[in-house]
Amino acid sequence: MARHLITSALPYINGIKHLGNMVGSMLPADVYARYLRQRGHDVLYICATDEHGTPAELAAKEAGLPVDTFCAQQHDAQKAIYDGFELSFDYFGRSSSAENRDITQHFARRLKENGFIEERAIRQVYSLDDERFLPDRYIVGTCPHCGYDKARGDQCENCTRVLDPTDLIDARSAISGSSRLEVRETKHLFLLQSKLQPEVEGWLDSNGSKEWPTLASSIAHKWLTEGLQDRAITRDLEWGVPVPADSWPELAAEGKVFYVWFDAPIEYIGATKEWADADPENRDWKSWWYEADRTVRYTEFMAKDNVPFHTVMFPATQLGTREPWKKVDYVKAFNWLNYYGGKFSTSQRRGVFTDAALELLPADYWRYFLMANAPESDDTSFTWELFTSSVNKDLADTLGNFVNRVLSFSRKRFGDEVPAGREAGEAEAKLGEQIAELLAEYESHLEAMQFRKAAQALRALWSAGNSYLEEKAPWLEIKTNQEGAALTLRTAMNLIRLYSVISEPFIPASARAMREAFDLPGDDARWVTADQARALDAVPAGTPFTVPPVLFAKITEEDLESYRERFGGSEENA
Ligand code: MF3
Ligand code: ZN
Repeated sequence: MARHLITSALPYINGIKHLGNMVGSMLPADVYARYLRQRGHDVLYICATDEHGTPAELAAKEAGLPVDTFCAQQHDAQKAIYDGFELSFDYFGRSSSAENRDITQHFARRLKENGFIEERAIRQVYSLDDERFLPDRYIVGTCPHCGYDKARGDQCENCTRVLDPTDLIDARSAISGSSRLEVRETKHLFLLQSKLQPEVEGWLDSNGSKEWPTLASSIAHKWLTEGLQDRAITRDLEWGVPVPADSWPELAAEGKVFYVWFDAPIEYIGATKEWADADPENRDWKSWWYEADRTVRYTEFMAKDNVPFHTVMFPATQLGTREPWKKVDYVKAFNWLNYYGGKFSTSQRRGVFTDAALELLPADYWRYFLMANAPESDDTSFTWELFTSSVNKDLADTLGNFVNRVLSFSRKRFGDEVPAGREAGEAEAKLGEQIAELLAEYESHLEAMQFRKAAQALRALWSAGNSYLEEKAPWLEIKTNQEGAALTLRTAMNLIRLYSVISEPFIPASARAMREAFDLPGDDARWVTADQARALDAVPAGTPFTVPPVLFAKITEEDLESYRERFGGSEENA
């Protein structure tokens, strides 16, 4: 038994996430966490909403709410959706928590003491009418490159060029629209990443990062090759972790807060403390994060745009404290999930959002499809056609149909208990071997976090049951050989029981329904050993069972047409 700390990138607070966000972070982390728990490991899976920064402030303004009220509402809305997807967080926290404020300020103080934070004066745009500095997105104006008139201070959305606020033509405040702006000098804190570069390199060379997926390690090395830049880690915002007055009285008096990417990864620790504070007698956050290196294995899940922050900048921050904070052992990074080859887009309402998905179909349909098509080695596309065929073939035909067919046929012919029949014979021995082999393959892919391959192996396990059933054809067998047919059905029911355990990481609700079909004493989803898989005898003759409702309904042509219409997906706008 090992201790596994698992985190998935923290979803931004400003709005409901789409399927692409979930497949690259929370969902695979959940599959992995569930698998490890079933194997008996001690797992702590932590996530939270990422609540600070300009996007949150601006979204709150647009919603006409104070930013703290807005964030509280959005946190609950996101949490409800993740519950709907059965994401099994041990804790889902908030980066605006008191715990995160304290730990973030502690990090900053330590970095200062160790000479890695410095105050520097920079020139920034100040709005006379708003009486404040305007960071990043708070300034809009005309792009000097393409003429787009709603370019933001940090980037032009139209031509994607990165901008400096002072580049904008006819610059104005995004808050008031005022163009009475001037450039003023102001002080900010800088994290001296250039000084930490050698340490980060040393850490990356010695921590097994060579085993990471290339996507993660190559991005990390690219950043280091280009050289780490010192970075401003404070902003002039209302909403954020305040700069502590004991260390920087002047900046604190000016109301400066830390930049969102400074406090967000620290919230992995903050949320763990939130978890512990909810039950302090029984939970110890430090044993996961502090001097924990030898006993805890820490795995992070994220999309590729997050990799630099997690493989270089956050570790630099941790190293700079000169305290024994747990650093990541394995980074699982994902490419993009597209919608018909184009981007999911919130503003153009393009793609499928997590709330809409759950209104349409149960979570398991999405969980299975998304993981079986996860953008692991390349970007992948969501299309309704692919989704439909995968649900219909794999879930409805291969798994669901098997379960229902076997249980209803057996009930009809042998009643409400698993029939006895003959001893297992050659066909069953062969099946057992095949199942044990496929199970080992499935396990090795899950251990390696190769989710597409794992889903393939799972599908192969379901198919093996179908082949056995076709071969033995108990509906014919029963005419001449009652005992033989009973054996076939008993074996098939044992396959269902096995599926209910091993399918749990991908489709937990359906797995539960399958498990609950059998009235077994002290039953749980503990993982099966190779011997148990080979023997296929966990459900003995005489076990009472019920026939669950159809596990997966097929998606019809009409459904497909209505989804395409409603969500604006078609091959044309690919
Ligand atoms: N909110 C960020 C995003 O969606 C991810 C933050 S991850 C953490 O891209 F490191 F800050 F925790
Ligand atoms: Zn432009």
